[in-house]
Amino acid sequence: MTLTQSTKPRQAGGEEPVLRLQNVSKIIGRKKIVDQLSFDVRRGEIVGLLGPNGAGKTTTIRMMTGLIKISEGDVKIAGRSIQSQFKDAIVQVGAIIENPEFYPYMSGYDNLKQAARMTDSVTSERIAEVISLLGLQEALHKKVKAYSLGMRQRLGIAQALLDRPKLLILDEPTNGLDPAGIREMRDYLKKIAVSEGIAILVSSHLLSEIEQMCTRVVVIQNGRLVTERAIGAGGSGQERPELRLRVDNPARARQVLESLKGVQALDGREGEHEIICQAADEEMPALIDALRQAEVAIYRITETRKSLEDEFLQWTGGNQIA
Ligand SMILES: Nc1ncnc2c1ncn2[C@@H]1O[C@H](COP(=O)(O)OP(=O)(O)OP(=O)(O)O)[C@@H](O)[C@H]1O
Ligand SMILES: [Mg+2]
Repeated sequence: MTLTQSTKPRQAGGEEPVLRLQNVSKIIGRKKIVDQLSFDVRRGEIVGLLGPNGAGKTTTIRMMTGLIKISEGDVKIAGRSIQSQFKDAIVQVGAIIENPEFYPYMSGYDNLKQAARMTDSVTSERIAEVISLLGLQEALHKKVKAYSLGMRQRLGIAQALLDRPKLLILDEPTNGLDPAGIREMRDYLKKIAVSEGIAILVSSHLLSEIEQMCTRVVVIQNGRLVTERAIGAGGSGQERPELRLRVDNPARARQVLESLKGVQALDGREGEHEIICQAADEEMPALIDALRQAEVAIYRITETRKSLEDEFLQWTGGNQIA
């Protein structure tokens, strides 16, 4: 994908990102609350917008959804400018900013029906579809005031999805949820990204949540982009990952490892039957064979992944991220 602005007609199903921020800034008074922020979110992706309190996440999301004016730059949703083509752009968006609003004395179902009345295109089949997508069947006829926070969030997402948006934006969707609730939310969002084929942007100030939920993270601090990178599934992405071996005889294991070409033995806690080394995948079969031949018993091999938190501290220079 190039970053040049195209004036060609947009092709359905093309490579165009669902959400594109182009040098977006928000200036209030003399302060740049959001400063030249650019990033993309594509179909099927769940991207985390991560930053400490006051980083500018909500301000950015408000600009994306036209709730406040963009001072500089532009936001494109499926190629349409939120500034100059507001209606065409906003119909592609489902969003929950801060708390989803409901009629508390009405059931979840009646709330969805009420929301569906606001648009022409939502059928009763679609209502049933979002209900099952968010696992709301059992809570459906309860009054919303009796909903738990997690159920309320799911009802909010169901409502945001009614009109089949291409982009779902959620500002701190896990705020206040317990670990089980967070996990549930993650599973639902993953399911939605795939089954609805949409792009999802989720903001949070908590690393652990983003780590569990997202495929990519955009980190901001003081309104500026700090880093943008893929996270989550798979290993560390390193070619020569650091491995922790639990063995019966770490001293002998060290000798063996040091005799192998390419493998680097690092310090481990020998008293705890542990040795750490760095090796590429291709080197592992020979490494294991050599240890077995030397009659070293291997109890466990694990990758010592640097936590996202460690990386954060690096990215932000040890600064304030929660
Ligand atoms: N209308 C406003 N006038 C002046 N300053 C504002 C205004 N709105 C936001 N700010 C400031 O802009 C900064 C970013 O605020 P924002 O709410 O976007 O942060 P956030 O990343 O969403 O934080 P949180 O994690 O606390 O929700 C903060 O320092 C805030 O005080
Ligand atoms: Mg906020």
